[in-house]
Amino acid sequence: MGTQGNADYRDSGLVFPDGFIFGSATASYQVEGAAQEDGRGPSIWDTFSHTPGKVWNGDTGDIAADHYHRLDEDLDLMKSLGLHSYRFSIAWPRIQANGRGPANPAGVAFYERLVDGLLARGIRPIATLYHWDLPQALEDEGGWANRDTAYAFADYARIMGEALGDRVDTWTTLNEPWCSAYLGYGSGAHAPGRTDGAAALAAVHHLNLAHGLAVTALREVVSNDPDFSITLNLHVLRGEGESGPEAVRQIDALANRVFLGPLLDGAYPADVFNDTRGVTDWAFILPGDTEIIHQPLDVLGVNYYSTTLVRVWDGVSERQNSDGHKDVGGSPWPGADRIEFMQQPGPYTEMGWNIEPAGLEELLVSLHESYPNQPLMITENGAAFVDELVQGLDGPAVHDEERTDYLRRHFTAAHRAMARGVDLRGYQVWSLMDNFEWGYGYSKRFGIVHVDYDSLARTPKDSAKWYAELIANGVLPPAND
Ligand code: FCB
Repeated sequence: MGTQGNADYRDSGLVFPDGFIFGSATASYQVEGAAQEDGRGPSIWDTFSHTPGKVWNGDTGDIAADHYHRLDEDLDLMKSLGLHSYRFSIAWPRIQANGRGPANPAGVAFYERLVDGLLARGIRPIATLYHWDLPQALEDEGGWANRDTAYAFADYARIMGEALGDRVDTWTTLNEPWCSAYLGYGSGAHAPGRTDGAAALAAVHHLNLAHGLAVTALREVVSNDPDFSITLNLHVLRGEGESGPEAVRQIDALANRVFLGPLLDGAYPADVFNDTRGVTDWAFILPGDTEIIHQPLDVLGVNYYSTTLVRVWDGVSERQNSDGHKDVGGSPWPGADRIEFMQQPGPYTEMGWNIEPAGLEELLVSLHESYPNQPLMITENGAAFVDELVQGLDGPAVHDEERTDYLRRHFTAAHRAMARGVDLRGYQVWSLMDNFEWGYGYSKRFGIVHVDYDSLARTPKDSAKWYAELIANGVLPPAND
């Protein structure tokens, strides 16, 4: 039995084009562990996860999936699944313990070993420079609310470009700057846990700037003609009732256009300045910044999990706040105090996120319509469900039908978008293995490979086997039911 609903998104036999890049993704703090080894400095996530009450169950990334020590085993696992690509992130504090100064050779060596190990197995390295683990020393100087952090990031990008710029296939500057800015500095649900709307909006701009500076720095030092990219978690918005369109406009500006505008059009959307004028005057945007941010992108990375339903609060009824993020009190939406986030129809994943594959098709098509010449890549999609490790005749197994069904529906959606003309280059399933799910710790499992957190043993789930079959044939396997 699969998940109910959305039955029309369960096609079988769909053929993906030759060259479509099937891969899987992880992020440094979520999988590596070895938090204090080989000269790694503390990141904001070390500080945050070690602060009581910030992460469920007091979980930390100290050990995580121990990927740092199990690199060869994990590389072999990727090879056995037939992955075409592996999207990983580089821990900035392994490279520069305090976020500045010369590279730490041991940190660089780990990523050289990772990239060389991928290439030796015929797997493309897709490297993300920043998946949220800011060196704590830079946070102590103001973090992403401080303009200097963008320049420090460009220096770090240059170091990595010099080290791996002959081997990495795709450089992604930032993963989901929305989360870094609004969850890190607005709601406080993520590290560094600040709750200051003005700082969150400054962080938005400095992250955009960091992207532009990093691409510029990388271009100067790489030698193998890689793709440059950034990954965004664009919000697929639906409006409810009469006020729906206005609510959608406001959240679209804050969540999507504040990134897409400067990145792809070379300008911030004017309405975001107006909507947030009670929070900040945006004086942190200096002349020339938008030109720096506006770099050609070889591929735009898209992370998609679910949709968002909004309306303008009437000021009378009980305020709805189901925006799908851990609610810790602060708002991730500076200047949008009157917007309500509505509960959406199920089915849901274990995160409480609604399962809506049509949203992925809609997102890809709308990006293609707005930016017809922009190649796209799904850099994350996947789902957390409660998994049970069982002992079968052939050894341990996880029969995760719901995850397989979720993936089937979303691959179907991606295929439909391609049939409508979207230039979609590939799909990186989140995640290769169970890992530290930020504020939720180890309570949510997204992996297609199960990790036993006591023994650290890896067990490919049924979804991994299903994915391996899809990759091997380039065709969506038939459904079981
Ligand atoms: C995304 C993050 C990724 C993971 C998934 C579930 O927002 O980029 O690290 O936590 O959500």
